[in-house]
Amino acid sequence: MNNSAPLPGSGALRAEFPILERKVHGQALVYLDNAATTQKPRCVIDKLTECYTQWNANVHRGVHLLSQEATEHYEGARSVVARFIGAKTSDEIVFVRGATEGINLVAQTLGRTLLGAGDEVLITALEHHSNIVPWQLVCRERGATLVVCPITDAGELVPGAFESLLTPRTKIAAFTWVSNALGTVNPVAGMCAAAQRAGAITFVDACQAVPHFRVNVQTIGCDFLVFSGHKVYAPNGSGVLWGRKAVLDTMPPWQGGGDMISSVTFEASTWNRVPHKFEAGTPDYPAAAGLATALTWLDAVGMERVQAHETALLALATNRVGELPGVRIIGTAAQKASVLSFVIAGIHPHDIGTILDRKGVAIRAGHHCAQPVMDRLGLPATARASFGVSNNSADIDALVDSIRMVQKLFGS
Ligand code: ALA
Repeated sequence: MNNSAPLPGSGALRAEFPILERKVHGQALVYLDNAATTQKPRCVIDKLTECYTQWNANVHRGVHLLSQEATEHYEGARSVVARFIGAKTSDEIVFVRGATEGINLVAQTLGRTLLGAGDEVLITALEHHSNIVPWQLVCRERGATLVVCPITDAGELVPGAFESLLTPRTKIAAFTWVSNALGTVNPVAGMCAAAQRAGAITFVDACQAVPHFRVNVQTIGCDFLVFSGHKVYAPNGSGVLWGRKAVLDTMPPWQGGGDMISSVTFEASTWNRVPHKFEAGTPDYPAAAGLATALTWLDAVGMERVQAHETALLALATNRVGELPGVRIIGTAAQKASVLSFVIAGIHPHDIGTILDRKGVAIRAGHHCAQPVMDRLGLPATARASFGVSNNSADIDALVDSIRMVQKLFGS
């Protein structure tokens, strides 16, 4: 935390987001779709410009100065990420295109070698499609079974269910830290400990955690963790797979190509060391540099301040939206972060989203890439407001006013 950094939600911090100056349908933009993607502060946008105007060259390959500078930026970004999440070494940071790619990487390498007929992968009913389908694919291929920990009507894991579903057959337990659809915060440290006692590899989807509170891979004790850069104020196309070095070292490569090899002949090839073994082809080094800039910026704002601010905003929004007649909050877990899903009796969430957009209020409406969550709660969709570091109470006022307008239009 840097005491001179602007406070979350303040005018000074909002001024760092150029996009917040634009109008939408003639209205000031009220951006409440941070769980889908975050907007970018000027320092991140400037970093991309700096790359392409100052040091753009392929990394790890050139003897010329630009290539050396690009390599320094790229490998420097790896160290920034490692520090941000408490990794022991930057060798444990694999740059990926986003969380989806990181999950597929582990499912297609570790999953393929570890899983056999009769084995199980344990997930939860709160997962995003990206933490379901990759495991489903590898389970089908290997004759393994996908086991799902159920949730309550409030959107919490059924007490004791996760632990009771862990058996000697559980080879991998993969679960989200924070539900993108409901905002439920799972007790991941306890889940990791229980899964490891059962002998399972643990994999945490931290997409909706990293932007909102301090994440430390040592404290939660997982084996793998992924997050997407675009959800944490960083460029699209950036993302991180963190894995314990000892586990990463045992895994076969995923994609083949340049940079992931140590030697190539037509008969056989040998592999580069971790993490390069998992980064075939020219990486998105501008995005990685932008990610490091975003994390450094967030660190200066201070994750403790971010968490306190967003917790207060979520409480305010929950009270104000929840007291509107006919509105039902979906997802009422005791521990939640930054997501407010709701439905309004007799009005489809897509209609809510479309009308709010006319007032400049951007929310998401739909199944939020979590269809099983909707199925479990008996809903086709919800409207979802999701908060970030730039939001403030005026945004909640705009949300509440525009929901009232929707209700008036529909006569509800
Ligand atoms: N996973 C993103 C969301 O929750 C796209 O909206």
